[in-house]
Amino acid sequence: MRTPIIAGNWKMNKTAAQAVDLVAEMRSDLEAAEGVECVVCPPYLAVPDVARLLVDSTVAVGCQDVYWKESGAFTGEVAAVMAAEFCQYAIIGHSERREYFGETDQSVNSKIKGALAAGLVPIVCVGESLELRQAEKTESWIIGQLHGAFEGISVEQAIGIVIAYEPIWAIGTGLAATAEEAERVCGQVVRATLTELYGSGVAEQIRVQYGGSVNAGNAAELLAKPNIDGALVGGASLKAADFVTIVRAAQAQSRAR
Ligand code: 13P
Repeated sequence: MRTPIIAGNWKMNKTAAQAVDLVAEMRSDLEAAEGVECVVCPPYLAVPDVARLLVDSTVAVGCQDVYWKESGAFTGEVAAVMAAEFCQYAIIGHSERREYFGETDQSVNSKIKGALAAGLVPIVCVGESLELRQAEKTESWIIGQLHGAFEGISVEQAIGIVIAYEPIWAIGTGLAATAEEAERVCGQVVRATLTELYGSGVAEQIRVQYGGSVNAGNAAELLAKPNIDGALVGGASLKAADFVTIVRAAQAQSRAR
């Protein structure tokens, strides 16, 4: 039984003060959702204040990126060990970082290793562009991303990693993948690749989220699918009522299983 995990990726939204207000607004509802892991991932400058607010809470805090070196002359970067003072999770390899900030499968792999060494749970993002999808290269692309991400990662480490399947064409577009399509990739591509890499016993324990225009209206249908273990939510995680609705959909699903 995999515990569903709903994470809010706030991207570059909310000042520290606004972040605290948003968390305060939804905190008790998120805490009431038993059987679901809830994670909020504010921008870095808001992380310490949000973490202090959630210090005794079941709601976890994540960051949106980390650097793998522990310290040194890396202007502008935040080391995984620094993030780990405040966070339990780290989003790694988001498509926006790959597209705008030059992230590669190699840097993603190094960041995963840095996060694990610091005791953070990596939420590793994979997903295909519209062009790749139209060229029917979704499967080979994601297999390649997963092979790159998991290079040199042990079985014990792999079990603790969360994968987020986020088709780029579905991010911020309002056009989520259909539940069938998301289930197909999460199961027949992502979990199948994890099975090939680590065996089915391990692959069955690794959680696979779907992300890309998840909202209060479509979450229940997506989360009902057997290979979708949660959601990585962008825009809808910035609205307390919507994020709470998505978390409740996950709770209903975990009760039903
Ligand atoms: P949206 O939910 O806004 O489409 O963003 C998804 C995403 O990129 C989460 O990481």
